[in-house]
Amino acid sequence: MHLGVIGFGNIGQELFMLLSDLELVRLTVLVRPGRIETAVEKLESLSQTVAARTTFVDDIGAFLAAQPSFVVETAGHDAVLNYGADILKSGTDLVVVSIGALADAALHDTLVAAARKGKARMILPSGAVGGLDILAGLAPAGDMQLRYFGTKPPKAWVGTPVAQNVDLDTLDHVLEFFHGTAREAASAYPKNANVAAALALAGGGFDATQVTLIADPAATGNSHRYELISPLATVSVDIANKASGGNVKTSLATVYSVLREIRNRLGPIAI
Ligand SMILES: NC(=O)c1ccc[n+]([C@@H]2O[C@H](COP(=O)([O-])OP(=O)(O)OC[C@H]3O[C@@H](n4cnc5c(N)ncnc54)[C@H](O)[C@@H]3O)[C@@H](O)[C@H]2O)c1
Repeated sequence: MHLGVIGFGNIGQELFMLLSDLELVRLTVLVRPGRIETAVEKLESLSQTVAARTTFVDDIGAFLAAQPSFVVETAGHDAVLNYGADILKSGTDLVVVSIGALADAALHDTLVAAARKGKARMILPSGAVGGLDILAGLAPAGDMQLRYFGTKPPKAWVGTPVAQNVDLDTLDHVLEFFHGTAREAASAYPKNANVAAALALAGGGFDATQVTLIADPAATGNSHRYELISPLATVSVDIANKASGGNVKTSLATVYSVLREIRNRLGPIAI
């Protein structure tokens, strides 16, 4: 398989450390303009084996011209907005890790239309959360009520709207600072919208998914809890994610969820 990867940041680099045993004949990676040299050096320090099969490009035209057979996006919402439709229209399946981008209904519809046109598929990995299988399985039965609670240490909320009203450096108690729908959460906290968006897209949609965001000074990592009530089942999920050694922002579960999509594409069984 010729794997295309967009972005070579926290998730991209962690991912590349897991690829050496896979049957990837060739890899093409799209980085930002001017970043090729640094990326080459970084990859050579991570895995010589994978580096030997990898070409970096810094232009979407060159990336598409290389014709990867399967693409994973690990770059950000802008990359989904700017490149997603062209990749899908070219007939290439695309794994979107920046799933919060799909809270933008217009972009969501554009990508769905592009996937139909290219006879390609947009694949939404479970990312930092889990249980999307049962949510998506039950969704056609309708009437899903899902409540999601996302907890992070105060420093993880720096730069978000809550920091305007709360001194996160001195916060000494658990603070539930946002209650709203997944659509409202995606609009107010776009950089933290991935999990809420994944739950909404798998389950009852952005307006039927309730979100509570929490800052907890005792939290050592990011945790995701949700409760689903549907006519067919009740589901409770509680996930405490371990961050990568290199970067506290990157939950290893997210990296492994992208790896899972690649392995599913390569292997005789998809699970
Ligand atoms: N689905 C989930 O549960 C989940 C969990 C964590 C992160 N994410 C999302 O995954 C994405 C990547 O996360 P990360 O921690 O690796 O971020 P990061 O900032 O460490 O890495 C992103 C990399 O992509 C590059 N990039 C950005 N735009 C680009 C573009 N247009 N073309 C080429 N390269 C581009 C950046 O230069 C950077 O190197 C983010 O959007 C984040 O929100 C999703």
